Amino acid sequence: MVTRSSAWKGLLMVGLAVAAPAQTTLKDAYKNIFRIGAAINQAQFDEQDTRGVPIITAQFNSISPENVLKWQLIHPQPNTYNFTQADHYVAFGEKNHMFIHGHCLVWHNQVPQWVFQDEKGAPLDRDALLKRMRDHIMTVVGRYKGRINSWDVVNEALNEDGTMRESPWMTIIGEDYVAKAFQYAHEADPQAQLIYNEYSLGNEAKRKGAVDLIRKLKDQGISVAAVGLQDHDSLQSPKIENEDAAIAAFEALGVKVCISELDVDVLPPASAADPNPYTAGLPDSVQQELARRYAALFGVYLKHRDAITRVTFWGVTDGDSWRNSTPVRGRANYPLLFDRAGRPKPAFDAVMQAARGVRAR
Ligand code: GLA
Repeated sequence: MVTRSSAWKGLLMVGLAVAAPAQTTLKDAYKNIFRIGAAINQAQFDEQDTRGVPIITAQFNSISPENVLKWQLIHPQPNTYNFTQADHYVAFGEKNHMFIHGHCLVWHNQVPQWVFQDEKGAPLDRDALLKRMRDHIMTVVGRYKGRINSWDVVNEALNEDGTMRESPWMTIIGEDYVAKAFQYAHEADPQAQLIYNEYSLGNEAKRKGAVDLIRKLKDQGISVAAVGLQDHDSLQSPKIENEDAAIAAFEALGVKVCISELDVDVLPPASAADPNPYTAGLPDSVQQELARRYAALFGVYLKHRDAITRVTFWGVTDGDSWRNSTPVRGRANYPLLFDRAGRPKPAFDAVMQAARGVRAR
């Protein structure tokens, strides 16, 4: 029987539902919490990927370039800069009113050998390499000044034990190459947010090295806006308490944290008897495990939401992911929130659900 009071209750519930509609996209669910980003490739920012582009524009409010701003692509020869693709990347972000991230200026990978050598192939000295680094940063950051909002200035400077990696940057310039890179980037665009980006910071020794590095930079008055935690994770690693400790360590230093390259590898190690077990699709049990893993990770990110400015997935759909080809070529991996057909997976629902939990508090 519908009494007057139950009818009123019904109306009230309808009213509440109208007042607080369920969010249906990642960027809306996380509005006012942190930005949700994706690393995108050329087919996407050139709008040829008709499956990926609608997902990117609907779900994400931040983009990172998978490759086009890396040294070997944008600056392949000493006097040759190749800006065409990077220009398209930035234009795509502007057209869609997105936060535009730059990745990356100084790294030991995807950088041509000539960078560290003179015309005769002999190693450069410190001053010559610093000059080359400065020219590159001034040219690339300067071109996109006021348009690219944040930069990974230095990527992966540390070893697993927390000591400085013996890259050519380090061996030729010395450990102040990191400080110099940040100074040059600041000079090129004083408004851009400058980031130190690194992987495996759940590992305590490496995390301590990173904390020391950032503290030293800050003590010298160098502008470090954030630390990027790559978070190329797996179902088991890092342990959730180590993820929590990593974010907390940088939060305590007074810098922001970006989760800069998130994905979750679901495959067994390359050395397993069958390293490619899911060619016919991901079994439901693993699908659910992936969803629980994403729920746990976002639980930690949300716990630290005051420190976290952005969570960026490294790719859009499972088919786009580098995890299909590294460390073993031709495997079927399932590390992201959208499947190969572009459909949201249970992991997507888990990430959406995590945001609802916060809003209800
Ligand atoms: C590192 C780099 C990225 C990308 C990923 C894997 O984390 O920072 O640019 O190359 O590896 O694709």
